[in-house]
Amino acid sequence: MRKFKTLLVTGGCGFIGCNFIRYMLNEYLFEGKIINIDALTYSGHRDSLTDIEQQYPTEKYQFIQADIRDYPQLEAVFNEHCPDGIVHFAAETHVDRSIHGPADFISTNINGTFNLLELSRKFSTREELHFHHISTDEVFGSLGAAGKFCETTPYDPRSPYSASKASSDHLVRAYRHTYGLSSTISSCSNNYGPYQFPEKLIPLMIRNILDGKELPVYGDGKNIRDWLHVKDHCSAVWKILQQGKSGETYNIGGESELGNISLVHTLCEETAKLQGLDRDAHKKLISFVADRPGHDRRYAIDCSKMKRELNWRPATDFRDGLRSTIRWYMDNSHWCEAVQSHDYHSWIEKNYADRKQQQQDGET
Ligand code: NAD
Ligand code: TYD
Repeated sequence: MRKFKTLLVTGGCGFIGCNFIRYMLNEYLFEGKIINIDALTYSGHRDSLTDIEQQYPTEKYQFIQADIRDYPQLEAVFNEHCPDGIVHFAAETHVDRSIHGPADFISTNINGTFNLLELSRKFSTREELHFHHISTDEVFGSLGAAGKFCETTPYDPRSPYSASKASSDHLVRAYRHTYGLSSTISSCSNNYGPYQFPEKLIPLMIRNILDGKELPVYGDGKNIRDWLHVKDHCSAVWKILQQGKSGETYNIGGESELGNISLVHTLCEETAKLQGLDRDAHKKLISFVADRPGHDRRYAIDCSKMKRELNWRPATDFRDGLRSTIRWYMDNSHWCEAVQSHDYHSWIEKNYADRKQQQQDGET
């Protein structure tokens, strides 16, 4: 069992990172120190951890604004804090944005990971250090109606986002193989829960339902995703950090597969229920728009290795998780408004208008 004195978390102001830090400090009662480095891009918000900053002294939790593409800045953080564990969440993460502009995905996801690996390799000669890399099931490509991704499924990334994540996975493996860097990788399915930036499917739909805006469903709405509650993801990552075998990959899934249109219907119904409205009240907002280019059809995760080897399984019932997520967005509109202040409206509206236009062009 690995023990850590100082965990360096990258991307800790993003969706999964902030949930992980909260989980470690408030629920696991981690005894060491957490250093959170984040560049605060459009999807990273220091406000997502205000409670943590107020509750814990800097000997326990410290935020440092730093860009993982900036090697000297990262080196200074390593020199000052001497981490013995790295949990690498920082990334550009939205597939649609990667289609419009892949450059940041290449520089952050590939070059940024390379910088972290280089520093980890150098530091691991001085003291023990374990590197955990957060990856995605999207590196495995797209499934037909049957089958699931397992850890040995060949890589077949199909978007600039998934190709950049696949590249970083290969670098992590190469550093383990060539330099003996102690490392693990986890590939997880689509996360949902509090603090997710409202450009991904679930929070975007919830926000639009609450604002009475259209709900853009890409293509025929029959693409399937597996949904993992972020808290289950955090507990899995912590298990791997402590007990995962160096050099291994672990698949983390929620065992909750659903087609997009069924999910959007459920979100409409559950939100209406919480608002005391007729169950079909919001469904008229659904609008089918042109499909995402290269849209992967189905993702499904076989997480039996996590169950068998690390005694982990997803604990959240999907309906309960969705309900509590909707309630969170209803109760935290101030957070949503604050994080949407960047280029949010122009990006979301342009993406929607482009797809709507493409849909109309296809019909004429
Ligand atoms: P997110 O977009 O909410 O957060 C990403 C964070 O990384 C932000 O805080 C951002 O400011 C930071 N960041 C981006 N570029 C940076 C840079 N150059 N230097 C330092 N910080 C930078 O993403 P998320 O959903 O929390 O995803 C976290 C990780 O999990 C990513 O590696 C992603 O590929 C992976 N993942 C996410 C999902 C999902 O469903 N959200 C699924 C599978 C894998
Ligand atoms: P997303 O949350 O972007 O995650 P990913 O593409 O990484 O799986 O999208 C989830 C699914 O929802 C995907 O099949 C695309 C679809 N989708 C829509 O239909 N409409 C939307 O507005 C968005 C953002 C996604």
